[in-house]
Amino acid sequence: MAHQRLKTSIAILGCGDVGSTLAYTLILNPICSEVILVDPKTALLEAQVRDLSDATYRGNTGTRVRAGTHRDAGQADIVVITAGAKQKIGESRLSLLSRNLHILSSIFKSMAPINPNTILLLVANPVDILTYFAQKMSGLPESQVLGSGTTLDSARLRGVLAQKTEVSPNSIDAYVLGEHGDSQFIAWSSILIGTSPIRLALPDQITPAFKEEIATHTRGAAAAIIASKGCTAYGIGNMAASICKYILFDQRTVRPISFFQPSLGCCLSMPAVLGRKGIIRPMPIVLDETEQEELENCASHLRGVIAGAEK
Ligand code: 2OP
Repeated sequence: MAHQRLKTSIAILGCGDVGSTLAYTLILNPICSEVILVDPKTALLEAQVRDLSDATYRGNTGTRVRAGTHRDAGQADIVVITAGAKQKIGESRLSLLSRNLHILSSIFKSMAPINPNTILLLVANPVDILTYFAQKMSGLPESQVLGSGTTLDSARLRGVLAQKTEVSPNSIDAYVLGEHGDSQFIAWSSILIGTSPIRLALPDQITPAFKEEIATHTRGAAAAIIASKGCTAYGIGNMAASICKYILFDQRTVRPISFFQPSLGCCLSMPAVLGRKGIIRPMPIVLDETEQEELENCASHLRGVIAGAEK
């Protein structure tokens, strides 16, 4: 009996570089049966739908793409919010906050009433702050409102460690945690290169200078790409598509993801089990004293940004 895939829909709000790359990734892989694109720029929206549809005719995933309204999006299984201003060269993610908070507020007004089972995935920046406010504005449970967070930063970290150790990134467990931004930190004490803690995989090399080199590379990766091509899209688009797959297929995958941390009073990335209901449960990670301090500093910084935005 052929596997009859349930009708599942993913709505993407914003069909610019990131939203269209996500849509393209979704239609090339058997992740959902329908992609709904929503964007106030109707000419762009229609062109993206037609261009993406051309990629579905030969594909055998059966995924279809169509234009929709915010009201349609509010009934989808997953709503991915990529809509918003993007960083200009030299601009920080946090500098986008007031513009993108305004866009987020109008999105939720247009989507209401939102399906109570919908999972929200924030991708627009500053993603941790927007995830916090999206949960407040939507009224959805905290477990159903998540942000891509440091999933991409962690992939970048695994990539650079793969080069250093000549081990596949798929065999490296390494987490960037906290803010998808400047106050992020690397959980060095839990990095595994294959089955070896990194201090054994790279004996005598994990010096402060080495750590700073890797952290600077990971933290600055987006800015370097933006400086040359004006945006990032493939990395974040692929991450967002993977997160949608973990959710729709209830895969119980562990990833660093941004979600509300009750003990810290903000949204930031920590490891969590992802499944059909969003955050199934946090996955505890052992942090050393330095890492715990960095987590507290990150949370304090994010709480300050939230307080400023709430004024
Ligand atoms: C990135 O890290 C810009 O947040 C986006 O690629």
